[in-house]
Amino acid sequence: MQSREYAKLTHTFPLSATRRDPAGPVRTIAVTGGKGGVGKTNVSANLAVALAGMGKRTLLLDADLGLANIDVVLGLHPKHTLADLVAGRCTLEEVIVEGPNGVLVVPAASGRRHMAELQPAEHVGLVNVFSELERDLDVMIIDTAAGITDSVLTFCQAAQDTVVVVCDEPASITDAYALIKVLSRERGVDRVQVVANMARDPNEGRALYEKLVRVCEKFLIDVSLNYLGCVPQDDWLRLSVQRQQPVVKLYPSAPASLAIQEIARRTARWQAPTAPRGGVEFFLERILQQKVSA
Ligand SMILES: Nc1ncnc2c1ncn2[C@@H]1O[C@H](COP(=O)(O)OP(=O)(O)O)[C@@H](O)[C@H]1O
Ligand SMILES: [Mg+2]
Repeated sequence: MQSREYAKLTHTFPLSATRRDPAGPVRTIAVTGGKGGVGKTNVSANLAVALAGMGKRTLLLDADLGLANIDVVLGLHPKHTLADLVAGRCTLEEVIVEGPNGVLVVPAASGRRHMAELQPAEHVGLVNVFSELERDLDVMIIDTAAGITDSVLTFCQAAQDTVVVVCDEPASITDAYALIKVLSRERGVDRVQVVANMARDPNEGRALYEKLVRVCEKFLIDVSLNYLGCVPQDDWLRLSVQRQQPVVKLYPSAPASLAIQEIARRTARWQAPTAPRGGVEFFLERILQQKVSA
């Protein structure tokens, strides 16, 4: 890890240096959930592919540094991964692969312990590298790992919006609550979007969201929750995972696809961030600002 790329990873250069004028603000959305297996990766991947299909220039970052699988669910065969980037073996542009609908994907490497254990400065450094990305983007979706690790918290904190995926399991609600609590109390996150996944009907999705709202209210978590929608339990989605293609592309009229397309339309209607500057570097700036004020 002594290369020039790695130097970039560990060096936080002055914010005004090496900047281009970005085309416009990029929307950064972290998808998280506390618990594993609730559907974070499928929601992230399909949301990104759906947004790309709507003409949004979308980048999907696999930030599950321990159990990366965005490349698997999208059927991609990347030559390089974030691990190579961190090790200085390639550049960010070389890591990016194009997926369905032209979505740009930054794959991670699975099972690399040293990736899962990146130090906080390296998370910032990772984001730093993104500030040099020579592409104009509308949206950046970040698929995070399970758990409440520093990595997950940093990515959520840096993103403008955090989408918490929950499903109808007691552990999912308690883990989502624990995550929201830490995000709110330690990372200054004051707004969270909720997606209820694997719902057996729309009422169940809404009820799950309300359960989470009640828990947050009961324990006085100062955060506003917003219901982004529910994704039904859908065998077409399961099948598409086996076929290594996103369900929105393989079975666009499946119930899960229609639901994710609706969620994509809703997120596309979110107001553009009122950042003084736009671009991916805004993401970096948020991390640095929070570090300074911490
Ligand atoms: N809406 C859904 N309907 C049916 N199965 C689903 C749905 N969402 C997720 N799954 C199943 O759950 C598995 C885990 O989903 P994944 O997105 O990898 O979760 P996470 O990233 O939270 O660990 C998927 O492989 C799929 O089989
Ligand atoms: Mg996952």
